Amino acid sequence: MTHVLSAVAWPYANGPRHIGHVAGFGVPSDVFSRYMRMAGHDVLMVSGTDEHGTPILVEAEKEGATAQQLADRYNRVIAEDLHGLGLAYDLFTRTTTRNHYAVAQELFKVVHRNGYMIEKTTTGAISPSTGRTLPDRYIEGTCPICGYDGARGDQCDQCGNQLDPVELKNPRSRINGEKPKFVQTQHFFLDLPALADSLGGWLSTRTDWRPNVLKFSRNLLDDVRPRAMTRDIDWGIPVPLPGWQENPAKRLYVWFDAVIGYLSASVEWARRSGDDDAWRAWWNDPDALSYYFMGKDNITFHSQIWPAELLAYAGKGARGGEPGDFGLLNLPTEVVSSEFLTMEGKQFSSSRGVVIYVRDVLARYQPDALRYFIAVAGPENADTDFTWSEFVRRTNDELVAGWGNLVNRTASMINKNLGEIPAPGELTPADHALLSSTRDAFGTVGGLLGTHRQKAGISEAMRVVGEANKYLSDQAPWKLKNADPERMKTVLHVAAQAVSDLGTVLSPFLPHSAQAVHEAFGGTGTVSPMPELREVDDLDGGPGYPVLTGDYRVGENVAAWGSAPIVPGTPVPPAVPIFRKLDDAVVAEELDRLRGE
Ligand code: MF3
Ligand code: ZN
Repeated sequence: MTHVLSAVAWPYANGPRHIGHVAGFGVPSDVFSRYMRMAGHDVLMVSGTDEHGTPILVEAEKEGATAQQLADRYNRVIAEDLHGLGLAYDLFTRTTTRNHYAVAQELFKVVHRNGYMIEKTTTGAISPSTGRTLPDRYIEGTCPICGYDGARGDQCDQCGNQLDPVELKNPRSRINGEKPKFVQTQHFFLDLPALADSLGGWLSTRTDWRPNVLKFSRNLLDDVRPRAMTRDIDWGIPVPLPGWQENPAKRLYVWFDAVIGYLSASVEWARRSGDDDAWRAWWNDPDALSYYFMGKDNITFHSQIWPAELLAYAGKGARGGEPGDFGLLNLPTEVVSSEFLTMEGKQFSSSRGVVIYVRDVLARYQPDALRYFIAVAGPENADTDFTWSEFVRRTNDELVAGWGNLVNRTASMINKNLGEIPAPGELTPADHALLSSTRDAFGTVGGLLGTHRQKAGISEAMRVVGEANKYLSDQAPWKLKNADPERMKTVLHVAAQAVSDLGTVLSPFLPHSAQAVHEAFGGTGTVSPMPELREVDDLDGGPGYPVLTGDYRVGENVAAWGSAPIVPGTPVPPAVPIFRKLDDAVVAEELDRLRGE
């Protein structure tokens, strides 16, 4: 049994989540965490909303709210979205808690004390009309390298080069078009060059990551420069140094504090559990494992910036140093990044209306239908496309006609003919073959889930579902009722055992229906728990907020990963369909909605 940290990317609290977001970080991390718990590991799954930085400020301005009001609004909306999908976080919190401020400031102070935060004077842009800083990506102009006119202050999308806003020709604000004013400003930079050797050493020990993630991460090492970890902005965590702490115009960079959320959320979880040090088993024990889940635009921050912060905190760079009170903190075991989901062939874009919000899907369809689509057709290793016609086809042909039908016809034949799980007679080779296929699925699917090959995992599970359906058709128990009632009982027993095992195998992917399948065969208790959305007080006197949390103990609330013998004599209730078949008209309806008709 191992301590396993599931560290899930923190969504910006600047709007509701769309299905592209949850395909990247949400569903994969939940499938993995549910499986690892069932397999007996001590999983700690943490995340929260990312509430600082320009993305929040810009949206607040649009909606006529303060940054805090906006963060409050979308922290709640996002917690509800993730709750609806059944994502079983041990703690889903936020970055505006006092606990997070304290942990982030502790990291900054120790990194600074160890010599890895260097103060430099740089040139920054401000908006002449508001006096506010203009962040790099809100400046637009002509690329000095390729001449493209839509280059942004941080990068040119045409030639791909990293830029500095001062280099742009004809720079202008993307917010109001005005010409930015460039001024001298002081900032702290994380000294990545002083950490490059330790970073490279660590990365060279990471050999089994997804090849694209590994390649991207290694390439980052070719160009390590100091990176600014403070900003001229009035929304964020104060810089905890004399002369800076009181300055309302300087804050920690949002990405500096966001990645620290993994640690602060673990600390918050421990404090709420009544054992303040309980988080250490996931962070200080070198045998603990940690998996970070995200979309590919987050890789840099997880395979370079966050490890660099951890190494600097530990004093493991060219300048030496000593760790602070949190001790030696584990570096990521693996950065598990997915690619992008597109939508009817286009990039998701809330502003252009190319978007499907999680809450809208959940209002109209079953959460497991969306989870199934993401697991089987999501962007695990390559960009993939969500289309409504594929969603309807997969739901109807695979979920309803494949898995749902197997569950329903088995449960309904047992209910109508026997009323309870029958005892089996002697087993035939066909019976043994099916039972060993479903038993073997624990090994094969489990192996795939433990190594982040979820698409292959669910495909294998569904292949065995197909075998079980074929077994039922071949054995035709409905023909045996009068001819050979004892054989009918054996067939239905074997089918029920196979369905029960497949329900367990599929439960990391389809946790809502797993519970329903369990109950369809007269099972009691919770096998596939749901997170709870709960209002809590801030631990340190700040305002209260909603969190996601839950009780996910194996044996109490979670089925163990393995075949559990069904019990003859257990009453089986009348069958209720587990999945809803979708009308083909759904496709046209949804496409009209997308076009705003
Ligand atoms: N808020 C970022 C995004 O949506 C992700 C932050 S992940 C974190 O892209 F771990 F750094 F918080
Ligand atoms: Zn260019």
